[in-house]
Amino acid sequence: MKKIKIADGIHMLSMNVEDMLFEGIWEIANGVTLNSYIVQGEKTAIIDGVIGWDGIPETLYKNLEEINVHPKDIDYLIVNHMEPDHSGWISNFEKIKDDFTIVCTEKAAKLVTSFYGKDKIQVVKEGDTLDLGNGKVLSFHPVPNVHWPDTMYSYEHSTKTLFSCDMYGAFGKMGDHHFDDEMTPEEEEFFEKEGIRYYSNVMTTFTPMLRKAIEKSKEFEINTIAPGHGPLYRGNPEKIMNDYTRFSNYAEGAGKNEITILWGSMYGMTGKAIAFAEEILKREGVKYNKLEMPLESESEMVATVFKSAGIIIAAPTYEYKLFPPVAAALDEIGRKKITGKAAFRFGSYGWSGGAEKELAEILERNRMKWDMVPSVEFEGSPKAGDFEKIEAGILELIGKMKDKIVE
Ligand SMILES: Cc1cc2nc3c(=O)[nH]c(=O)nc-3n(C[C@H](O)[C@H](O)[C@H](O)COP(=O)(O)O)c2cc1C
Ligand SMILES: [Fe+2]
Ligand SMILES: [Fe+2]
Repeated sequence: MKKIKIADGIHMLSMNVEDMLFEGIWEIANGVTLNSYIVQGEKTAIIDGVIGWDGIPETLYKNLEEINVHPKDIDYLIVNHMEPDHSGWISNFEKIKDDFTIVCTEKAAKLVTSFYGKDKIQVVKEGDTLDLGNGKVLSFHPVPNVHWPDTMYSYEHSTKTLFSCDMYGAFGKMGDHHFDDEMTPEEEEFFEKEGIRYYSNVMTTFTPMLRKAIEKSKEFEINTIAPGHGPLYRGNPEKIMNDYTRFSNYAEGAGKNEITILWGSMYGMTGKAIAFAEEILKREGVKYNKLEMPLESESEMVATVFKSAGIIIAAPTYEYKLFPPVAAALDEIGRKKITGKAAFRFGSYGWSGGAEKELAEILERNRMKWDMVPSVEFEGSPKAGDFEKIEAGILELIGKMKDKIVE
């Protein structure tokens, strides 16, 4: 566990976590950090915690002692968000101290009681403050549905620090650099990518509420944004606000100037058309990504489709429906409410077809409002006429993408 001073009397405790399925689903190839914050006035508060703190009270004790915090002096646990990646440590903390007050929203209070059986809770509303002494004053600001209904920001007034919890978070392990102004260009690029993965995997379904939370964060004078996952922003806190605004637009059809080919093929017939499509994309100078389902991780699949302005769905008919791994991927995208993408499908069939009907059902069921170029289906192996139609479809897709591009 790392201990980083972020201002006088404020420390971050951060832990890199790997080899886990985040939320039990997302295979996060580059790990994630869990950040917790200690604010010391005359009294001491911990804002969010680190999952389990490895379950051993002695480790928690030792880590706190190393930054001169005596666990017995911790009076307040601020729960910005009750999801157990931030609150799971409460049951370990109570092994070293059982007398503390939990500070959270009314909605979180109900969850704290039902998950942990705790009832010494101070419920806070918009603008309520907690004076810790020695000039440290926290205020609390609910941001519901980011991404649970209970979430709030905490803000420390003397240091102008916004503790934003999941908001402005990113996946990706942190090395020796923790602040935006320490990052190398490579690290900046890494965390932009991991921010997109985080937003698309965890947050995107709640995009309208995230937009409200972005607006709310703009009301504060901010020296540092201190999220629950990923880097801290003090050099240019506005950048992460702008990035999150851009991501919110990706959720509704905008994207980078790239096409993602979401594909699957049993015996290579659709594969022949994909090879042809790649030649066209290269000729047209369009950057593209390929996601072969079901080999690609769910996390990477969602993130890559999410950030692309154009999508090619390439998949055959299977048992009168769309090739199942591709159908499942599209359904997942739909459940995440990733709407408005420009897209084009082609694929092979043997005798009846049926893929097309299921694709329409998936788009309709999830109200995806994708801007579809008419599909091209071919019997068995694609022929010269099919290639012509596929080329025309790709060119139409590139045309549709043009006004959706936001880098
Ligand atoms: C398990 C299985 C189920 C299939 N079901 C259908 C079907 O319901 N209707 C149809 O027209 N073709 C069906 N096909 C035929 C495929 O769509 C056809 O072989 C196509 O060329 C496969 O494309 P691919 O080589 O890209 O996988 C099925 C093939 C397999 C192996
Ligand atoms: Fe969360
Ligand atoms: Fe979280």
